[in-house]
Amino acid sequence: MKIILIGYMGSGKTVVGKGLSKELDLPFYDLDQEIVRRQGLDIPSIFKEKGEIGFRKIELQVLGELLQSEESYVLSLGGGTPCYGNSMEMIKQTKDAHSIYLKASLETLLGRLWGEREFRPLIAHLDSQELLEDFLRKHLFERQFYYNQSDLVVEVNEKNVEGVVAQAKNLLNEHRAITRF
Ligand code: S3P
Repeated sequence: MKIILIGYMGSGKTVVGKGLSKELDLPFYDLDQEIVRRQGLDIPSIFKEKGEIGFRKIELQVLGELLQSEESYVLSLGGGTPCYGNSMEMIKQTKDAHSIYLKASLETLLGRLWGEREFRPLIAHLDSQELLEDFLRKHLFERQFYYNQSDLVVEVNEKNVEGVVAQAKNLLNEHRAITRF
């Protein structure tokens, strides 16, 4: 079984992925960390050296390799992964892969991302809360089309990590029971 966590930057994919992997006793992978490990560069440096398009190509390739492995795992994607190339299609076609969208509101994301901008190349240049809000509103709207293709959705607003993990696990059990037939 492969569990794929999808969602915007700051939606909690990594921390929820780690929690879910413990609950399900499966290994955990974070796509950004896999990219960093293979490239020997951090994400902002990859954007700087290869541009966003270069980053997207690497991202798609590493995702493809992970999806092709026989291993079971929990995998957290980057916020943009499902929105480029044929990544959502690849996930949908992977046997026993279940995708979960961690859905956060604009307000939740604004609160979480304002203090973390400098580590995130796509929003690092937005130097007022108003600019960040305008950017997130438009970007989230564009990306939701892809995120909504996930098999399952968990709302993360006002939940702690344990609450999100518990709900994801329950939905997953129901989904697996249905899709087995
Ligand atoms: C990105 C999200 C980041 C990282 C890169 C691009 C995006 O991952 O892949 O900075 O396009 O939303 P997280 O969502 O894990 O922060």
